[in-house]
Parts: sequence; structure tokens; C-alpha cells
Amino acid sequence: MTEKHLVINYTEFASASEMTPEDQQLVSAALDARSGSYSPYSHFQVGAAVRLGDGTIVKGANQENAAYPSGLCAERTALFAAGANYPDQPVRSLAIVAADHGTLLDEPASPCGACRQVMAESQKRAGAPMSVILIGAKKIWKFDSVDDVLPFIFDSL
Ligand code: THU
Repeated sequence: MTEKHLVINYTEFASASEMTPEDQQLVSAALDARSGSYSPYSHFQVGAAVRLGDGTIVKGANQENAAYPSGLCAERTALFAAGANYPDQPVRSLAIVAADHGTLLDEPASPCGACRQVMAESQKRAGAPMSVILIGAKKIWKFDSVDDVLPFIFDSL
């Protein structure tokens, strides 16, 4: 028997101003994307923004429904919109932010498991690591690969 340990690497920023101009732009887009949230049930507004290989930014926000499971998270809204509209463009990075009743959460927004699995598929399609930026009012975390937010990724191929 061997005990194993898993190391997850990420960078913490005190604010977006410490990030590269490209990442700052993606953070701003995610913050803007919250205005598209349709969340009359949870009042939890999530914004996501995806950067593609050619620099295009695609935004998404959570969309809810009276039949609860019919809604969709912001991350998947953005990633699926990117796949549907730019199928040949690799996804390079994804930024996510959440607010409760309009107030930005202090801690970085952490994506649900289903969204992480969809991120894994986007990264696989891209054929290169996709970075994930989780935004909070007090700190921002950047993961350089989906593997760092979803260890032991399921892959059927
Ligand atoms: N939500 C997201 O948009 N992303 C996540 O990763 C977790 C949750 C949404 C779904 C629902 O509209 C609301 O947040 C409350 O769960």
C-alpha cells in the first residue's frame, strides 16, 4: 500500500489589477455577464466569460426555469455558446463570478461539478490547458488547467 498526495496549483491575486491585461479583460467581461443572469428563483447571479484562441470573448449567465432542473449554470451557458457559435476555436480560458441578491461574493465563485466536467471537455477539444479564473470581491484565484479544478478527469476516449 502506498499513500499518495495530490498537489493543486493556483495563483491568488488581491485584485484584477495584478493580472495580465488579457485576464483583466476577461474578468471585466465575466462581471458584465452577470447582467444577463435570469435568476428569479435563487437570486444568485452568476456571470462567466470565455476567451477563445482568436481572442473572441463569449459571455454567459445562469438561466433558471420554473421547472428547476431545466435551468443552466453560467459556465455551461458560456461554454456551450462558444461551442455552438465558434466550433473551430479552442477555448483558452474561462472566468466566473457570482453575486447573491446583487452583492458580489467575497470568496471566489466555485463552479459545480457538472460545469467542471464540461470544462474538461472544452479543454480536451482545445488540445491544450485551459485556465480557470474564479473571481471574488476580496481575492481572485487562477488555475492554469482544468485538471487543477477537476482532478482525475473522466475521459471516455
Ligand atoms: N450556478 C451557476 O451558474 N454556476 C455554478 O457553478 C453553480 C450554480 C447557478 C445555478 C442557479 O441558477 C444558481 O446559480 C443557484 O444555484
